Amino acid sequence: MTKEKMSGKQRVLSGVQPSGSLTIGNYLGALRQWVEEQYRYESYFCVVDMHAITVPHDPAQLAEKTREVAALYIACGIDPDEATIFVQSHIPAHAELAWILNCVTPVGWLNRMTQFKEKAARQQQESVSTGLFDYPVLMAADILLYQAHRVPVGDDQRQHLELTRDIAQRFNHLYGQTFVIPEAMIRGTAARVMGLDDPTKKMSKSETDSQYHAVYLLDSPDLARKKIMRAKTDSGKDIRFSDDPERAGVNNLLQIFEVLSGMESREAIEAHFEGKGYGHLKSEVADLVLETLAPIQERYRKIQNEPGYLDSILARGAERAGAIAEKTLREVQKRVGFLPRQ
Ligand code: TRP
Repeated sequence: MTKEKMSGKQRVLSGVQPSGSLTIGNYLGALRQWVEEQYRYESYFCVVDMHAITVPHDPAQLAEKTREVAALYIACGIDPDEATIFVQSHIPAHAELAWILNCVTPVGWLNRMTQFKEKAARQQQESVSTGLFDYPVLMAADILLYQAHRVPVGDDQRQHLELTRDIAQRFNHLYGQTFVIPEAMIRGTAARVMGLDDPTKKMSKSETDSQYHAVYLLDSPDLARKKIMRAKTDSGKDIRFSDDPERAGVNNLLQIFEVLSGMESREAIEAHFEGKGYGHLKSEVADLVLETLAPIQERYRKIQNEPGYLDSILARGAERAGAIAEKTLREVQKRVGFLPRQ
């Protein structure tokens, strides 16, 4: 193929579910890193709509959110001339490989997945789908189809990455060397931005109980500020990094500040806030967040106003991604003994 093939760069693949609006947690925990690393790797960024239907969803919303997430990838700084941006369901090989991987994945491995247990616990037991249980295998297919070396994800995806490696190893062992064994790339600070309303829970784009849970990338400046000013803290007054669950709210704000301010050390940050109150901390965090959101929102609006632009990016993305995925899938089919169609 093209320049990618000849680049000799390692591949990166990651994805986000279009199951809600992207939050500053998605940006700080994952997207920012994708943007930073996109030139160093041959990058593939996918909108995982097939994962989004593993829990009850609204079909009209799904299509809309799929476009929104893809546009936000670009607005956050993914360069579509450099990275491949695509929609998972546009590439049938994801489902086809997932089936084959299902057949080498022991049920016991899936039984251990903590994210499944958490998500299943939030639903009526009878309505938990088989797809939700199988979610990690589809994710393994996403990664292994592209022979990705590295997978930049949030901290909550560690276990899924481990499973992907186990599945790849097992397949390679059973059928011969086929897959690259991928590695997770997990950012240290702010790999995990916590909910503003409840700092003991990860900030989630699909949380709907409270309006003050998350700042969305497309929130107006007023709303974003209001949410941060209302963030849950504690009854103390020291502004210090801490892993005490009681102080998780202040710690979360400090971590957001740390990433966005680019200040060198935690000591310097604590010194910066010495003698100040929580209101002051919140207002400085809000300033930084608004500064971050402004250019993203401006680019997003430009993309929305250019008819056909996003569709053309996604069509080109599907073309590029599809070629690679097909190649891996053919190889896998041959290895498991499927008769080639003539
Ligand atoms: N499970 C991931 C999440 O919720 C999303 C995802 C699906 C993904 N397929 C992937 C991430 C492949 C990285 C690579 O964050």
